[in-house]
Amino acid sequence: MAFMTLASLGELPEGGQLRVDLEDRTLLLVHLDGTIYAIDYHCTHDELGLEGGDLHNGCITCPYHGAEFRLSDGEVLAPPAWEPLQTYTVTVSEQLIQVDIPQ
Ligand code: FES
Repeated sequence: MAFMTLASLGELPEGGQLRVDLEDRTLLLVHLDGTIYAIDYHCTHDELGLEGGDLHNGCITCPYHGAEFRLSDGEVLAPPAWEPLQTYTVTVSEQLIQVDIPQ
């Protein structure tokens, strides 16, 4: 486990989305209904960005072709994607968003 601080809570208000570029991957942080989620930035359908996708019922809808992913575990709930999205464990400590990035 290697938790990295990626943002502060102040940067990610309720309903917000934040792109984070790391050395070897790009993540999207999402704040929905009081929970912070960390998912891969790129959709598993066509590798386009999920940023700006509609958020509802714990899910994000890809803005390009409408695939829907569950934020908690990346499961695909609507096509055309069929591969799940990578998700990451998040903790919030002293207003800092920390994400477990596999080494
Ligand atoms: S790129 Fe996301 S549904 Fe096609």
